Amino acid sequence: MEKTKILIAYGTRYGATTGTAEEIAKVLQEEGNEVKVVNLKEEKVKNISEFDLIIIGSGMKMEMWTSKVKAFSNKFSNELKKKKVAIFVSSGARALMEYKNEHDEIERITKKYLENKASKYGLNPISMTMFGGIWDYNQMGKIYRKFLDPELENFIPAGFKEIEPGVYDSRNWEEIREWAKELARMI
Ligand SMILES: Cc1cc2nc3c(=O)[nH]c(=O)nc-3n(C[C@H](O)[C@H](O)[C@H](O)COP(=O)(O)O)c2cc1C
Repeated sequence: MEKTKILIAYGTRYGATTGTAEEIAKVLQEEGNEVKVVNLKEEKVKNISEFDLIIIGSGMKMEMWTSKVKAFSNKFSNELKKKKVAIFVSSGARALMEYKNEHDEIERITKKYLENKASKYGLNPISMTMFGGIWDYNQMGKIYRKFLDPELENFIPAGFKEIEPGVYDSRNWEEIREWAKELARMI
């Protein structure tokens, strides 16, 4: 039997989505699929016709997908409508909102980061989800740092790991692997 072909096309600004995309790819490969991972900033996708499932991933900044992910979704919008599609985003905000029980905010960003984007490009994804991300204090501009300072004490209790001094990571690898396994079952 021919293997199911999967494309993971993603955009990242700070690198978190790269690790997430690679972990998803690893699981899907272990489940017997053929997976191509493309960082849209480094590689242009010319054709998606050969793929049975397309996973679109983007890091979030000021509530926006990366420009390359937007361009990809626009360019292939007609074809994507006819394909199996799944979407994930990397969010630095979600874990903090969960910790603070801001359910309305979580609902709002789920709509804004995922549901509204899917409808914007006319997609009907088989699954959409929001993973954690990275806050890197060393690379952050002054304004953002000031904005985040009151949150600093919440990072660790909210489940962030300080993976390097000043770098807080809220990606939950188990959650990421579970999602990939769930996708493998759905295709
Ligand atoms: C300037 C800036 C703006 C950000 N804006 C958001 C945001 O609007 N929502 C959110 O959930 N996370 C936000 N984040 C956190 C990012 O989602 C997090 O850094 C994530 O890792 C981004 O994905 P990437 O590392 O693949 O670029 C922001 C981070 C920075 C530095």
